[in-house]
Amino acid sequence: MTVNVLFVCLGNICRSPTAHGVFQQRVVNRQLQHLISVDSAGTAAWHCGKPPDRRAAAAAQRRGYDLSALRARQATEGDFEHFHYILAMDRDNLRELQAIAPDNYQGELGLFLEYGHNLPLAEVPDPYYGGVDGFEAVLDLVEAASAGLLEHILARHTL
Ligand code: 4NP
Repeated sequence: MTVNVLFVCLGNICRSPTAHGVFQQRVVNRQLQHLISVDSAGTAAWHCGKPPDRRAAAAAQRRGYDLSALRARQATEGDFEHFHYILAMDRDNLRELQAIAPDNYQGELGLFLEYGHNLPLAEVPDPYYGGVDGFEAVLDLVEAASAGLLEHILARHTL
C-alpha cells in the first residue's frame, strides 16, 4: 500500500512547497519513495502553475532542498479520494479544507505541526509579506514536523 500525503497552505508557493520538498527528501533518504507519495496544493488558485516563491526556494536550497520542479495548484474535493493525510499549515487553510471535505473522508485531515514534538507553535506562520527570517522559521518548523510525521507513518502503517 502507498501512503499519499498532501501538504496545503494558502498560495502553494511558500509553506506547502517547503513541506513538500523537505518531507520528500526525508522519504527519499529512507528509500521509501515507492511507499510514500508526497504532493502539495493551495486553498487559493492565485498562483496556479507557478514555481515556488524565490525566497522560499532560496532558503530551501541553502539547506539542501530542491523545490525547482514544483508547480502550484489548488486543492480540490478530488484530493480527498487520493490522499490519506491532508495536512494544513494553518487553521484558515484547515477550515477551507474542512469546507470541501466529503463527510465520509476516512483519512487524516489536520494541522501539520501536530506531528512535531513539543513545537512552540501550532501553525506555520505565513512568510509571504515578511523578511528572510520568516522563511527560515518555516523551514525550522517544517523540518521538525516532517521528522515526526515520518515516524508516525512508519509506526502506524505496514509499508
Ligand atoms: P503560502 O504563502 O500560503 O505559504 O504559499 C502565501 C503565498 C501567496 C500569498 C499569501 C501567502 N498571496 O497573498 O498571494
